[in-house]
Amino acid sequence: MPIADFITENRGGHVGLSAPRADGPAKVTGQARYAAEHHPHGLLHGFPVLTILPAGRIRAINTREAERAPGVVAVVTRANAPDMAPFVETDDIQVKFIGPKPVLDRDEVLFHGQSVALVLAESFEAARAAAALVTVEAEPADAALSFADALPSAYRPNLVNGGAPPDTAEGDFVTAFAAAPVQLDTTYTTPYEHNNPIEPHAAVAEWRDGRLIVQDCNQGPWACAQALAATFKLPPDRVQVISRFIGGGFGSKYGAHPHAVLAAIGARVSGRPCKVALTRQQVFTGHGHRSATRQRLRLGAQRDGHLVAIAHDTWVQTSRHDEMVEQSGVISRIMYAAPHRRTTHRVVRLNTPTPSWMRAPGEAPGSFALESAMDELAHALDMDPIALRLANEPDHDPESGLPWSSRSLRACLQQGAERFGWQRRGAPGSRREGRWRVGLGVASATYPVLHMPASARLTMHPDGSAKVELAATDIGTGTYTILRQLAAAALGLAPGQVEVALGDSDLPMTMGSGGSFGASSAGSALAGAATALRAQLADLARQDPASPLHGLNSDALAFADGRISHRDTPARGEALATLLARAAPEGLSVSHDHHPDTAQQHWSMHAFGAQFAEVGVDGDTGEVRVRRMLGAYGAGRILNPRTATSQIIGGITMGIGQALMEETLLDPRWGQWVNRDLGEYHVPTNADVPVIEALFVEEHDEHVNALGAKGIGEIGIVGAAAAIANAVFNATGVRVRDLPITLEKVL
Ligand code: MOS
Repeated sequence: MPIADFITENRGGHVGLSAPRADGPAKVTGQARYAAEHHPHGLLHGFPVLTILPAGRIRAINTREAERAPGVVAVVTRANAPDMAPFVETDDIQVKFIGPKPVLDRDEVLFHGQSVALVLAESFEAARAAAALVTVEAEPADAALSFADALPSAYRPNLVNGGAPPDTAEGDFVTAFAAAPVQLDTTYTTPYEHNNPIEPHAAVAEWRDGRLIVQDCNQGPWACAQALAATFKLPPDRVQVISRFIGGGFGSKYGAHPHAVLAAIGARVSGRPCKVALTRQQVFTGHGHRSATRQRLRLGAQRDGHLVAIAHDTWVQTSRHDEMVEQSGVISRIMYAAPHRRTTHRVVRLNTPTPSWMRAPGEAPGSFALESAMDELAHALDMDPIALRLANEPDHDPESGLPWSSRSLRACLQQGAERFGWQRRGAPGSRREGRWRVGLGVASATYPVLHMPASARLTMHPDGSAKVELAATDIGTGTYTILRQLAAAALGLAPGQVEVALGDSDLPMTMGSGGSFGASSAGSALAGAATALRAQLADLARQDPASPLHGLNSDALAFADGRISHRDTPARGEALATLLARAAPEGLSVSHDHHPDTAQQHWSMHAFGAQFAEVGVDGDTGEVRVRRMLGAYGAGRILNPRTATSQIIGGITMGIGQALMEETLLDPRWGQWVNRDLGEYHVPTNADVPVIEALFVEEHDEHVNALGAKGIGEIGIVGAAAAIANAVFNATGVRVRDLPITLEKVL
């Protein structure tokens, strides 16, 4: 797909400019209203009642006492809930997004924390107090709660998350590995993790004139509206989901979650608007977690470091009622060359909520295993870890055989090493600063270039200002900002002349923010609309005898400074407002439907990167402090270095959490997440996060999309934990294969 004209021209320099956030002022002045901040007249508050048992069958739910409590309007259970379509287990990712997500719909208890009733009251406090008065009588059943114990029951799924096959094989791994002069066979484990966006999940639902209108914090309001419509058996145009501002999500706000369905149930039953705002603890009950993983890596190499055999075998868990397979081994399908290779995924069923997406699902835990193993192999070979990686660069996709659309891992490793001062790395355990043992580590990173269908509407008002509209989202990532930059570049406007409306399922459809596809998908739709609007404006000018551009070819026209003018003689032209006043006094509006083309059939498309970490390990206590990190990435065109850098800093920060802190513990008796709050579930704070630098290597990719931009939302976390673990090894000689790297594992 050729790069859009206005990107290559980039008049005004808007594309690639470090523009400040378009949504920044609204956020820092408190004018941005998040879902829970909507208070329509007559608002009721809903508080869910959650199961305590992890498995069983409900015999009765006693609501009478709660119903008599002060301020309570109603208690909803399965008995009086509105009609909902049944949940259908599927491995079709499309249906997962938009299929029915009923709540309060069954007597079967599938996990601890399942919603079985909703108390509706005049205040949050009244609803919460009354919820404690609801009692649930249930027949307990055996629950499967131990991942380790369940491993013998692991089965082979049809597909992994993302739709790839669970297993792949090339050549003859077993024979090649057995014959390899150097063999590494190690197992890595990663724990359960929970997405913890600062804004807990919240929704305000209203039924108005037969339409369900929901203010939700949702990464994909269009898909959420589809899922709510399916749940309540409504035509899709009778549901609107609005998500203008979202306080982070990291994957946990994609799809219709129980809180939004409960808000809609509450509004339906009461006939009043209903808010369900989760407590932090309730965020841990079916609103997203990452499965624990067990990953066996086998690397067979020649003494010069060339890999001959790679195997990556993954075990993960899913719930009893639905399947989500964290695709941890997929990274090993593309990272390094080797003639003999295999990957497998197996999954066990436990009585937990269904795992879901958490930043770089698959690649985040997968890179910890693969990139730790590469570090171990480098050590076994007495080879520099960067040299080992460079020796195994594949010149095409090793499994699909396709050429890379672009691959800059080599440049990332080399430029990153230079900038980070990699040559200062010594032998394991050799560098000390007082109590501190200091070490450096590196890891490779990658994330696929995903691309979704998307539509956009672009309007030029009679005054020459413009409006961009699409159901994309800004989850704190910069979508408002980059879409404004793109429209300004396309139409030759100042950014302040472009209004961007996002986060509303009534706007032209996109799949929102997820899979690092937001910018490329929404941006491609906008690029299509902009190209069409430019053509219409050019036609208006050259066909209008009153225009100074009358009779010129479109090719001769350019857009800059609010004007359309002759490309080589800018003085010959007119203000867009003048042209519109004469030729299109109502303004002009175009819509464009973007369909990802077939590029992925011809090219293997991925962003690549290299993560570098310096750690200090306290020789007495084993405390690990990350001192510096740098990530170097080849991610195509960087639309806004400032917002891109922030994305990377966020990703690496989450990688520090994954490496050193994050771990949810599942009580083996009751199936509850034990440390379900931010006091006990540790994420990095400012004091834990050092200077993080992002380096974007020059990369031109004309295959990925009309912008030449790959995604950058997730690659920042990929490899970060491995780089830290490898730095800990370099500092201490201790290899930690089980995350997080806590004190006792280092000592
Ligand atoms: Mo992401 S885990 O696809 O929001």
